Amino acid sequence: MTEKPIILGIETSCDETAVSLIQDNESGIPKILSNVISSQFDIHKEFGGVVPELAARSHVEKIDLIAKKAIEESGVSLNKVSAIAATAGPGLIVCLTVGLNFGKAMASSLNIPFIGVNHLEGHALSPKLHSKLDYPYLLLLISGGHSQYLSVNGLGKYKRLGTTIDDALGEAFDKIAKLLGIEFPGGPKLERFAKKGDPNKFELPKPIINKGGCNLSFAGLKTAILRITKKIKTEQEKFDLAASFQKTIEEILYVKTKKAFQEFKEINSIDKNNFVVAGGVAANEGIRNKLIKVSNENNFKSIFPDLKLCGDNGAMIAMVGLEKYKLKQFDNLDLPASPRLPLDNDAIFLKGAGVKL
Ligand code: KG4
Ligand code: ZN
Repeated sequence: MTEKPIILGIETSCDETAVSLIQDNESGIPKILSNVISSQFDIHKEFGGVVPELAARSHVEKIDLIAKKAIEESGVSLNKVSAIAATAGPGLIVCLTVGLNFGKAMASSLNIPFIGVNHLEGHALSPKLHSKLDYPYLLLLISGGHSQYLSVNGLGKYKRLGTTIDDALGEAFDKIAKLLGIEFPGGPKLERFAKKGDPNKFELPKPIINKGGCNLSFAGLKTAILRITKKIKTEQEKFDLAASFQKTIEEILYVKTKKAFQEFKEINSIDKNNFVVAGGVAANEGIRNKLIKVSNENNFKSIFPDLKLCGDNGAMIAMVGLEKYKLKQFDNLDLPASPRLPLDNDAIFLKGAGVKL
């Protein structure tokens, strides 16, 4: 019997240095042999956000050790690895370059294929590491840099249904956490704050809730919260504001997801409707529960990555690498890092800002 392919995945697009080895499996769900993640929270905490040069320096310092640890934990000898996959974009160019070059060097010295991976596709396929999932499916990608509804019709085949017209949802969580005096990275801590507050205490705006199709907008919420933070005095009021924000986000996603269900059904006529929620914010319990509710009401099956696979990790990069490996979609060693690599061909430039959404 021929051995199933083993892929080593490398992720360094932002502030996580991560390496994982996975192996294809008869069941259709690959086996995660190791998944080592080193976060840089402590390095960036005092600056209130990720400092690209410091992040890149830390990747350079750690990548050898993390890769060594991932290989040791997997119990696999290097000559059994079938291909190396590394994130090529989007992300911080100085960070992407570290993992990409490391991956290319490994592939070259082992004389095996090299595969460049779109980080967002990694999030999109992350549930395939524990659930059998056929194309097409509806994807809500909510991370620190992106918030999009997409119809996923195959590897590399994405049709965008909606996107944020300003901040990404994770970014909104982080900025509002900062306004409430919560230290970086604020998203997960803001959720904990919210659990101690009254969600009905503050009435907050729901930008473009009834227009703009499946597009999202969170910037107006931030401005409204900034105004309120200037007036509140007690710790309890902070909890109440966090809870009101959490509730408002849940309500926005409830309405927009319902709209995305309709649009997904208009372009895909299938019996089984699957809805995947991925990216760092998919770890938020309140958002999960609200999205499970709207899925159940609309005959969609909701699928979330395991909590440890919601944030950035090497296993999701290896997952895309494995699918590409099976299709022999390999890259040359001159593949550049692409800081703004989009997931779909419909990516547009935001007028005037030169920003690709
Ligand atoms: O996918 P990810 O790890 O990195 C990017 O590709 O951006 O997402 C990180 C984002 C951060 O903005 C973080 O604050 C947010 O996900 N996040 C959360 C939670 N856990 C992580 N936001 C809200 N609630 C959470 N529990
Ligand atoms: Zn990510």
